[in-house]
Amino acid sequence: MTKLWGAQRIEDAARALREGELVAFPTETVYGLGGDATNDLAVARIFEAKGRPRFNPLIVHVPDSATARRLAVFDARAERVAGHFWPGPLSLVLPRAPGCPVSLLASAGLDTLALRVPAHPLALALLHATGRPLAAPSANRSGRLSPTSAGDVIAELGGRIAAVLDGGPCTVGIESTVLDLSGAKPNVLRPGGVGREALENLLGGVAAGGTSSAPRSPGMLESHYAPVRPLRLEACEARPGEALLAIGPGPAPEGFREVRWLSRSGDVTEAAANLFAALRALDRPEITGIAVMPIPEHGLGVAINDRLRRAAAPRPS
Ligand code: TXA
Ligand code: MG
Repeated sequence: MTKLWGAQRIEDAARALREGELVAFPTETVYGLGGDATNDLAVARIFEAKGRPRFNPLIVHVPDSATARRLAVFDARAERVAGHFWPGPLSLVLPRAPGCPVSLLASAGLDTLALRVPAHPLALALLHATGRPLAAPSANRSGRLSPTSAGDVIAELGGRIAAVLDGGPCTVGIESTVLDLSGAKPNVLRPGGVGREALENLLGGVAAGGTSSAPRSPGMLESHYAPVRPLRLEACEARPGEALLAIGPGPAPEGFREVRWLSRSGDVTEAAANLFAALRALDRPEITGIAVMPIPEHGLGVAINDRLRRAAAPRPS
């Protein structure tokens, strides 16, 4: 049963989040489906609860710019827009800071991170009380409308998450603008609560959409995110020098140079939580290729297979 909590239950909500549970909370744009962004399994549960067939990267919410600066690398442009629009409906895509503790699954294996400081007193109070960055996509099932009230969230996700913090209706009602500052030219990846003109006033030229020469939005590049080493799917036997990404409950085939378990029990949610870290760990020069055992096509296995197929696709040279 999903609990409906008022503002007086913030400490309970914070405790549930620290324990890896999911709690939806209000922001000024839409309700977010929150989970501890530093907990791989909590982030996997977000994708599971939404029923998303793909791992697209999530927006990570923080209580202030100082916290954001510990997670990502801020240049002068990022400082300027953050100083002007935070707290508010603007998410910044920036390079992950060295040693960034945010789950790789939250950024779908990318080297960048989308960060925002929401302008909602309950969201800020929750972020302070939890003491962790919170990954929070809109709190709807995949492909449905974004929720702007606690009742909407219950209708979408009731029974799938621990609780909803009720902060009344959202004032903005559309999602935050996603501004990519990880490349040379600022690029709006998703229009939203902050207009492009307002950004241009601060930054000069701002591109919109996938017009930049280097496509950065997830899904635009089929092989993205791909390890450097070739990936071989549905592998049942070893080839020389290969490493294996294994999934239980059965034994792993013999003869691989190294074996990494996504989940020994065959739990696809646990496998999703470990996916990107495992791929990165095996993506080393002495490994000739990464072989992956067949992943069951149910639950998050669908999203894992989607990502692996794209990572195994022919690459642009
Ligand atoms: O208003 C909002 O932003 C709401 C509330 C809850 O804060 N959140 C939200 O989150 O809409 P989400 O996770 O559904 O939005 C993710 C968007 C997607 O368009 C995704 O492609 C983009 O942000 N995004 C996230 N991380 C990215 C990254 N590293 N690079 C490029 N795009 C990224
Ligand atoms: Mg959404």
